[in-house]
Amino acid sequence: MALTEQTRADAVELAGRYPQSRSALLPMLHLVQSAEGQVTPAGIALCAEVLDLTTAEVAAVATFYTMYKRHKVGRYHVGVCTNTLCAVLGGDAIWDALSQRLGVGHDEVTADGAISLERIECQAACTHAPVMTANWEFLDDMDVARALEVVEKLQAGEEVFSTRGPRIGTYEEIERQLAGFDDGLYGEGRTDEKMTAGLSYAQQHGMAAPAGPERSPLAKTEG
Ligand code: FES
Repeated sequence: MALTEQTRADAVELAGRYPQSRSALLPMLHLVQSAEGQVTPAGIALCAEVLDLTTAEVAAVATFYTMYKRHKVGRYHVGVCTNTLCAVLGGDAIWDALSQRLGVGHDEVTADGAISLERIECQAACTHAPVMTANWEFLDDMDVARALEVVEKLQAGEEVFSTRGPRIGTYEEIERQLAGFDDGLYGEGRTDEKMTAGLSYAQQHGMAAPAGPERSPLAKTEG
């Protein structure tokens, strides 16, 4: 994997999608990860050049957010939510079981490069705790046995589907999707009554958010 002329062309396309090109930095860093499996110095230089930023500015962003990796992760990057709700409902036990089975700890990769493991923060999916992710696709309502099954299948190269629908792609595939390029899976996700409980309640009781102030779509770029 490496940065190619196509990567550069894609980066230029991303820059053109925003009124201020620097707004493309976050998706562009995902694009770099889709090409190199991590954010490398070369990837930082590419972003800086296309967006007319300094490499220090790009590096500051890339080192701030935990979704940007400065070292290779696995083909499947597995997250286990160990924040309070998930932890008490089984997240801690899932983490212990996966870490022991795979022989890796937080932010480490298995020797075969197949799986990396990360303790992740609340995914705003507490209705389906305990929650795991695989390349940021949700795996809801997990338990130790199901978590081990998922990871063993991923490690063996078998197809695994998110509990919310789509096939779980490789890290590079999902990073390209996160950069904003269509992977054809749009529409395969699904919600359930737990996820939309607030919306249903509001609709049943005639509740709506107050209208916001009218403003130009370009207001933030003016002045
Ligand atoms: S605490 Fe795990 S998704 Fe919220």
